[in-house]
Amino acid sequence: MKIVGTVDELRDLLRPARRSERTIGLVPTMGALHEGHLSLIRQAREQCEVVVMSLFVNPAQFEEPADLDAYPRDHARDGELAAGVGVDYLFAPGVEEVYPQGFTSRVSVSGVTEPLEGQHRGTAHFEGVTTVVAKLFNMVQPDVAYFGQKDAQQAVVIRRLALDLDFAVRIEICPTVREPDGLAMSSRNERLSPSDRRRATALHRALRAAAEAIASDERTTGTVIAAAMAELENVELDYFELVNPDTLAPVGERIDGGEVLAVVAARVGATRLIDNQSIQVPSTSDGEQAGSAKQEVLHCSARC
Ligand code: PAJ
Repeated sequence: MKIVGTVDELRDLLRPARRSERTIGLVPTMGALHEGHLSLIRQAREQCEVVVMSLFVNPAQFEEPADLDAYPRDHARDGELAAGVGVDYLFAPGVEEVYPQGFTSRVSVSGVTEPLEGQHRGTAHFEGVTTVVAKLFNMVQPDVAYFGQKDAQQAVVIRRLALDLDFAVRIEICPTVREPDGLAMSSRNERLSPSDRRRATALHRALRAAAEAIASDERTTGTVIAAAMAELENVELDYFELVNPDTLAPVGERIDGGEVLAVVAARVGATRLIDNQSIQVPSTSDGEQAGSAKQEVLHCSARC
């Protein structure tokens, strides 16, 4: 694995691969790697001939300077982990390389950036994400870029970005990797005290409660949300919602067939956590499909 710090060097290194039409996969990260990140890299390794992982703690997407300062950084450990799962080029630019003096441009996506995280963190967060991801797409020019379903709204926003601005990149969204007790892996989990770590499982339990209610043929949105809320009493909730997975618009009073996305964000102690779960909704009249939804919930519970 080669560590690269500048865009010029990265372009020189990737030129032969591009000339010989080898597929280039990009996994953008902010480091503090865990199994969630590694699963993205493994998928890139399986599908692409050249794998680039970017490691850049992007100041533009942090709304609080204290949050940026507290973000865990261990480049040596990240380098070892990345090499271990087969990254070819670890692109770790400095802040000056990404945002040189005089930098004033921004890339912003409207609509899907506005609800949920946009409402609670402010849309500047997603503007920071879309600006840096657009830059990374231009710097690396990957054929495929890998993102996690863990950050469901970010995934929707990046799909929109790539589509709207004609980036010639296929966006792959990889499943959420969880701890054995269901907590979604996150670089922020490191900051949880032992008692907060136990309380943090509430997010996953709430998502499961919603999925179980739907699998038991509950179709009133308020009742499904109430089942989830019962699990969230000991955390400081930002939101729990059932939304359309493509538009992120809240579902109406009744849940129709198809797919809904349950999304949750809460503070546990000083740490803000997010999680989500896609739920397949069978039409209640179709007994066979309802049965398969129950199976899916059981399967998920066993897996998580
Ligand atoms: P970061 O939080 O480091 O996450 C990098 C990628 O790993 C994201 O696509 C994220 O969704 C994915 N990921 C995180 N936890 C995961 C888990 N438990 N299972 C599966 N995938 C997981 O997201 C960012 O960085 C930044 O916003 C970035 C896209 C790099 C732009 O700065």
